[in-house]
Amino acid sequence: MCGIVGYVGRSSNGEHIGHNALDVVMEGLRRLEYRGYDSAGVAVLADGEISFRKKSGKLSNLITELDEHPLPESLTGIGHTRWATHGGPTDQNAHPHLADGGKLALIHNGIIENFAELKLELVRKGVTFLSETDTEVAAALLADIFRTKLNGDVSDGGLTKAMQLACQRLEGAFTLLAVHADQPDVVVAARRNSPLVVGLGDGENFLGSDVSGFIDYTRRAVELGQDQIVTITADTVEITDFFGAPAQGKEYHVDWDPESAEKGGFSSFMEKEIHDQPDAVAQTLLGRSDIHGKLTLDELRVDVELLKDIDKIIVLACGTSFYAGQVAKYALEHWCRIATEVELSHEFRYRDPIVDGNTLVVSISQSGETMDTLMAVRYAKEQGAKTLSICNTNGSTIPRESDAVLYTHAGPEIAVASTKAFLAQITAAYLLGLYLAQLRGNIFQGQIKDILADLGKIPAKIQRILENEEQIKELGRSMADAKSVLFLGRHVGFPVAMEGALKLKELAYIHAEGFAAGELKHGPIALIEEGQPVFVVVPSPRGRDSLHSKVVSNIQEVRARGAKTIVIAEEGDEAVKAYAEHVFYIPEAPTLLAPLLATVPLQIFALELAQAKGYDVDQPRNLAKSVTVE
Ligand code: G6P
Repeated sequence: MCGIVGYVGRSSNGEHIGHNALDVVMEGLRRLEYRGYDSAGVAVLADGEISFRKKSGKLSNLITELDEHPLPESLTGIGHTRWATHGGPTDQNAHPHLADGGKLALIHNGIIENFAELKLELVRKGVTFLSETDTEVAAALLADIFRTKLNGDVSDGGLTKAMQLACQRLEGAFTLLAVHADQPDVVVAARRNSPLVVGLGDGENFLGSDVSGFIDYTRRAVELGQDQIVTITADTVEITDFFGAPAQGKEYHVDWDPESAEKGGFSSFMEKEIHDQPDAVAQTLLGRSDIHGKLTLDELRVDVELLKDIDKIIVLACGTSFYAGQVAKYALEHWCRIATEVELSHEFRYRDPIVDGNTLVVSISQSGETMDTLMAVRYAKEQGAKTLSICNTNGSTIPRESDAVLYTHAGPEIAVASTKAFLAQITAAYLLGLYLAQLRGNIFQGQIKDILADLGKIPAKIQRILENEEQIKELGRSMADAKSVLFLGRHVGFPVAMEGALKLKELAYIHAEGFAAGELKHGPIALIEEGQPVFVVVPSPRGRDSLHSKVVSNIQEVRARGAKTIVIAEEGDEAVKAYAEHVFYIPEAPTLLAPLLATVPLQIFALELAQAKGYDVDQPRNLAKSVTVE
């Protein structure tokens, strides 16, 4: 998830009447920095040439660079703020990427799935690459098409045509913006499964990942459809599909203030991030398997022979990431038949753990900087373990120090308490589990394909939950005075219950505990008194039947003692209705994948309750996003 901006303004009789492109682009990047902040870059067109600056680190680094090495005044420009996926957060990997001998500049948001095969093709033609990015491959492809197929002819919409042809060859998700020195008054953009909006000005037009990219200049926006290409000049906006057929966008008025525009119109980053979850899961799945359902995790950078010999997995993490690890354990053991332990990072190295060369230590960390987890990974390495990091932050310390890495592609998570990273971590851990099972022959390829297909359906199912969120929101608001809430779950529902409790503690400062439903009778049931709210995550009745009926019995046990029960159950599970004050239905999913759905209502509940109490849900008291002390 990156932020992109484009601008074209007009000059009249040689007089500059638009804005300076660099000012517009930098203002847009400042507002879009929440989308990615590990590098930033700009390109402007002046005097028939492209000039660019790019810098790793926050936007402030680019600002310093521009102060030291200013760019010329210009009417056409593009800018990018990066959330690294392919290639670490370095100056070289920052966008824009140049091609056609420096005459073409391109920026990109998304993942180009077939970049490796395209790169090979271009290398064979003699193209050399400076970065490790998929973006530079797209730039080179665009330039190659412009030169070889269109002979560099700009008379008939050259760059637009080249973009159409290039997009026909690209797979994956992408928003691309390109400028060419031979067509100085034009920015061409393309969109597939990645956001892009047009801003309409008077004698100037804009492009942005979202409206915050241009909200300081215009409130008139045009929404584009999937697989569309838009060409903007100062006075025109032309839309086509990837094959050149004219297409229409939908114009609308933006009534958000600039601050809420950054949050996509939501009241908080947390709310936005909860709603980002279909995308976070979809992006994490993207590019990880071929059409035959074979997982292709080449990015792991690890000798597959080593992975074949693994006889034990230890998952290390803290906070929400720890619960993602606990969910993962069920899948890893079931699919790979490898004994899996999940341990809090800060406990691990003080207990003399049994680790050797056949142990795979999987760390899970959104930030990649959590000191407890970093220290635990270092300790595991010292003991000879293989280390693999599941991480959301490209180039951060933990993946850098690990033998292998599998990035989640949830995009930047701004709210301190984690939501979308959690679902992306579970998704990535499932991919790892299936990959190990594939390598070791634990399950048939056909089964892997089926599970991947089920995973592929999860984003739409999360979306359905989000579209029906009002019922759970209402409950959250009505429970603003609750003093204590308990959460019960069984099997994969157990870590979901603990994550539900953690969200409520973090956001609403309410005492909350998650228990394994079966453990209730061994102690926690003493907590139940008249009116005690208890959430119960009920397993699918279609799964192992005994599990469902046992949890239903647990509901009855707490109800008999006066608890107010709130049930998360699968659609069609009529049996639970009789035992619950409230039932929230989630779409059907295989048991192991259900946490990706069951967690969502619990997040919404905690958010709404905390907001009803008037708390700052993005920055809860006493917490930090990344805890870099032990
Ligand atoms: C902090 C955050 C939590 C997060 C935990 C682990 O405590 O407040 O939201 O789950 O760190 O962070 P990590 O970046 O390692 O996933």
